Amino acid sequence: MIETAGLTKFYDSLAALVDLDLAIPAGSIFGFIGPNGAGKTTTMRILATLLEPTRGGAKIDGLDVRTQGAKVRRLVGYMPDVMGVYDDLKVYEYLDFFAAAFDIPSRKRPGLIDGVLELTDLTVKRAALVDTLSRGMQQRLQLARVLIHDPKVLILDEPASGLDPRARIEIRELLRELGRMGKTIMVSSHILSELAELCTQFGIIEKGRLIFNGTLDAIRERMGLHMKVRVKVAERADDAAALLGALPEVASVARVDDYLSVKFAEGRSADGLIARALVGAGFAVTAIVPEEVNLDEAFLEITRGAVQ
Ligand SMILES: Nc1ncnc2c1ncn2[C@@H]1O[C@H](COP(=O)(O)OP(=O)(O)OP(=O)(O)O)[C@@H](O)[C@H]1O
Ligand SMILES: [Mg+2]
Repeated sequence: MIETAGLTKFYDSLAALVDLDLAIPAGSIFGFIGPNGAGKTTTMRILATLLEPTRGGAKIDGLDVRTQGAKVRRLVGYMPDVMGVYDDLKVYEYLDFFAAAFDIPSRKRPGLIDGVLELTDLTVKRAALVDTLSRGMQQRLQLARVLIHDPKVLILDEPASGLDPRARIEIRELLRELGRMGKTIMVSSHILSELAELCTQFGIIEKGRLIFNGTLDAIRERMGLHMKVRVKVAERADDAAALLGALPEVASVARVDDYLSVKFAEGRSADGLIARALVGAGFAVTAIVPEEVNLDEAFLEITRGAVQ
């Protein structure tokens, strides 16, 4: 449904996006993750036909964003990362304005507006001034707006940024609901864990380059290469650390509180090896527990040093 090939964007001499190849299947929820300045907004603006690429191409449902912009805009609901200012405009008027911009006839608009207000839980705010809404409500209103022309594809630039945990969960639930309605959704964030449960597929971008593309399982798999275990011994922890640190399978050993955090160089469940080594050398091992891989750590691990 969304496809880019060799997509490249320069701002003067700054390479904001370099040879980006993406393929997002219809009906999927794609998490586009990257730190500040990685190129997420640049990519999304190109897909929304608001920015010309320097090189390469992008298609939405087979339509070229460069040459078939008007058609693409009917297919896509794009939510930018900033709301904009709408002095003296009520929620209802705001939605009516965007419905009119999509040539929706005036007799059809009330029903559509009521529908998107209900979906985004803003019915009670229909007569409120847009500028008086809380940040969470404004984000939901933006979602209501991008839904007004019933687009197949949603491109959402950090819809949960600046929201409290509860509002984040509400947005996530809403996106899940939209996914169930069959929409293809591309959603960006700085934080992998925020999108972990929601998305079916992830792209990690850094300095304009896609450095990872795949499922959460694939990310975990990749992190498995750097699996850690916690080891406790009854005594002589420093000697145990030295012993483990000298094993070729072990990348590093750190003393944390009352245990040793052992990081493997490669391969996953090599903890049998640790038990054998320690017991063989006469240590009393009291615990060997795998350390839970933290997704945000995983993200840092994947991005660290990937692009220089
Ligand atoms: N209009 C512009 N003119 C010049 N440089 C720009 C422009 N827009 C973006 N850039 C640069 O392009 C790079 C990518 O920016 P972009 O906004 O796409 O990143 P991002 O991943 O959306 O970051 P953030 O998480 O901060 O929103 C950055 O180095 C940024 O400074
Ligand atoms: Mg951005």
